[in-house]
Amino acid sequence: VTTGAGPSPAAAAAPLPAAGGTTVTRHFLMCPPEHFAVEYAINPWMDPGAGADRDAAIRQWEALRSAYESLGHRVSLIDPVEGLPDMVFAANGALVVGGRVYGARFAHPERAAEGPAYLEWFVRNGYDQVREATFTNEGEGDFLTLDHVILAGTGFRTDIAAHFEAQEFLGRPVVTLRLVDPRFYHLDTALFPLNGHNVAYFPGAFSPGSQEVLRRLFPGAVIAGEDDAAVLGLNAVSDGTHVVINEEAAGLRSALGRAGFEVVPVDLSELRKAGGGPKCCTLEIRG
Ligand code: ARG
Repeated sequence: VTTGAGPSPAAAAAPLPAAGGTTVTRHFLMCPPEHFAVEYAINPWMDPGAGADRDAAIRQWEALRSAYESLGHRVSLIDPVEGLPDMVFAANGALVVGGRVYGARFAHPERAAEGPAYLEWFVRNGYDQVREATFTNEGEGDFLTLDHVILAGTGFRTDIAAHFEAQEFLGRPVVTLRLVDPRFYHLDTALFPLNGHNVAYFPGAFSPGSQEVLRRLFPGAVIAGEDDAAVLGLNAVSDGTHVVINEEAAGLRSALGRAGFEVVPVDLSELRKAGGGPKCCTLEIRG
């Protein structure tokens, strides 16, 4: 029996683990906002009369993409489709876990064509475990994946029946959370995973029962205030070490810094006119 013979070759070749044991490098799918506009109102952030600046949106989106690339993440692109002004919000396009792709089925007819467009991208790129959803769900807008559980929002967009459909297809436990404030119409506007086992969230976006569930599951969560939630500060993307977050979320940025995360601020003010932030623009491809 050999003992304590120094580092094993496997350990030397392993990818760099981040704080909390998660691997740093991620694969993201993004959609350039070439056709971005606020043409209809399907959430309280959207005002078709207010006018959104598409060129500014493109510049801000490019900066987000560069931020991911400079952190070492891989970014794939899907072609934007004319007439689908919200397609930039790639998070809503699907939920991908362990190489299985659960397709989106949008709640509003304005976005319905995005579901098949995203599914087609996965099929064309060689993903063979692809499931068209029977029930209404808006992909990672309402499904957030941690190591041992998927958190799922309902109340505005995603049908609770889709939570069970996703659980059966993906073989992962899904925990239902009820959203109650129309400003936070997707789960990813009110909560984000910090790593595989902890989250940050704004309690006021959830029903009393769901707040209790969150307290039990995540006693060490970072709790955000209404000011941070109101600038879509919870619509952030963490790789376990760095958190890409709307720059206006001042309180949350400090809290994350105190918790040991490296904050990467971005300006997505133009996309916020449609109710989206960094996470909305980002679909994570797992496996
Ligand atoms: N205008 C879009 C909608 O209301 C914004 C989607 C934002 N995406 C997200 N993952 N929260 O559907």
